[in-house]
Amino acid sequence: MVCLGNICRSPLAHGLLQKKVDDRGLDWYVDSAGTGAYHVGEGPDPRSVDVAAAHDLDIRYQKARQFIVDDFDEYDLIFAMDSSNYSNMMQLARNEEDQQKIHLILNESYPGENRTVPDPYYGGDQGFKNVYDMLDEATNKLLERLVRAKNN
Ligand code: 4NP
Repeated sequence: MVCLGNICRSPLAHGLLQKKVDDRGLDWYVDSAGTGAYHVGEGPDPRSVDVAAAHDLDIRYQKARQFIVDDFDEYDLIFAMDSSNYSNMMQLARNEEDQQKIHLILNESYPGENRTVPDPYYGGDQGFKNVYDMLDEATNKLLERLVRAKNN
């Protein structure tokens, strides 16, 4: 799960999906990163921590890191929160195989619409609630899709 700072949006996507994967007893590894390096080593933004906690989700274990080219080797699927994260990673992709791993997360909820998760960093708490709800729905859809693919 990839955003710009890896402190607001992608930590929520990471925590939500990891919990859903664990709850189903799947051994899939979930991670997150930012295309920018501004917040490397920091924990998630307190506003993301709070909105997650309000839904019984603890994301305080996470630490921001920057997306690196090796992530294309490490991960099967890579989800961008917005079109700028998407194009930044596309520029880092070494080949078509890397490129095909990158998707926009909201296309799970709204196939083909290329919607973006708005950056809540400069806004208020409502923005974080909004982001949480979008990512809760998208990670539900994603998990359903992957479980269906696994069983087929
Ligand atoms: P995120 O939000 O990409 O959802 O983690 C941001 C966090 C920090 C900054 C921008 C977006 N920043 O410019 O520092």
